[in-house]
Amino acid sequence: MSSVSPSFFGAVNYTLPDAIFELTKTYNADPVAHKVNLGQGTYKDGNGILGFCPLASIISDTGYGLDLWQKFCCSPGRSSALHIVGTMLKEALGRDTTVYITKPSWSNHRKVFESIGFSVREFNYSSSAGVDMQSLIQTLDEAAPKSIFVFHASAHNPSGWDCRADQWKQIGAIVKERQLFPLFDAAYLGLTSGDYDHDAMGLYGMNMIMVLFFVRHVLTRVEFSSLARMIRVEISNPPAFGARVVVAILEDEELYAQWRKDLVMMSSRIAEMGRELYQGLTELGTPGDWKRIIEQKGMFCILGLTPNHVQHLQKEYHIYMAESSRVSIAGINGSNVRYVAECINETLKR
Ligand SMILES: Cc1ncc(COP(=O)(O)O)c(C=O)c1O
Repeated sequence: MSSVSPSFFGAVNYTLPDAIFELTKTYNADPVAHKVNLGQGTYKDGNGILGFCPLASIISDTGYGLDLWQKFCCSPGRSSALHIVGTMLKEALGRDTTVYITKPSWSNHRKVFESIGFSVREFNYSSSAGVDMQSLIQTLDEAAPKSIFVFHASAHNPSGWDCRADQWKQIGAIVKERQLFPLFDAAYLGLTSGDYDHDAMGLYGMNMIMVLFFVRHVLTRVEFSSLARMIRVEISNPPAFGARVVVAILEDEELYAQWRKDLVMMSSRIAEMGRELYQGLTELGTPGDWKRIIEQKGMFCILGLTPNHVQHLQKEYHIYMAESSRVSIAGINGSNVRYVAECINETLKR
């Protein structure tokens, strides 16, 4: 994968690495057993334990074929990763840059990018029939160069509609040709198909920034120095605990295999519950087209109920869902699926 050309971020100047962090990096790389780090102001216990994040090199071994392990950093959460990347992009691309988000989208996308000062525009991403490729392509064709497009890598929240591999390829080609900037929010890798890499298919072949609870990106050394400065200013030291848990899983063959299996189990259970809900509603003759429940992918699905129906389900049956009737299928289980189907059925036949 080639890197984003330096001219993309013409406004960014190289920022010298933070001296104390560099000292710690040198300390960590020093193989001498009796080494002592008196540089970083972090409390250590009597054994001199210091939090550090070896996640980067591990991810480079197990990751997406990207060999840019040093261009990788942790954040306290996914929203904060989006905020940091957005702050860096605003400085690099200018405050007049437009951020495009999907319509519908996860509600925090607009809030995060507006809070940074971007103007945020929505583009029609999906209808009840699936991804609206025509509208998506038209928006990509019309957007000003360097506009930022926030894509959901998989399990689109809230619609549950994801692009197919051939559609991602088409999007990637336009993004490249038109010099747009793809930013991937990869909140649910593995929960759609059960295969982490398969769910990341949109990322292949695109110069992009990807946001999980860590930020993974394809930037030049100069651009990365700018991101590192943002992190120093906003977080200083990303919490190590989450990273340590991930490292413990990735480094242990058995735990790693268990995690891959768990992803299959979780995604299969979600799909199974979707099928059972679909079956229940169909058997009951519930008015509406419920096929979307089995066609939409991942954790989320928009049922297509009115706000009145949603309110009724909550008031009468204690079934809670977003006003848009977006449901998290993960909340359904073998014991409540029939109840949910019957209550939706009764509500719609009232
Ligand atoms: C697309 C998307 N991005 C990010 C997040 C949340 O990330 P966090 O709670 O870690 O900030 C969510 C959670 O709902 C999400 O659906």
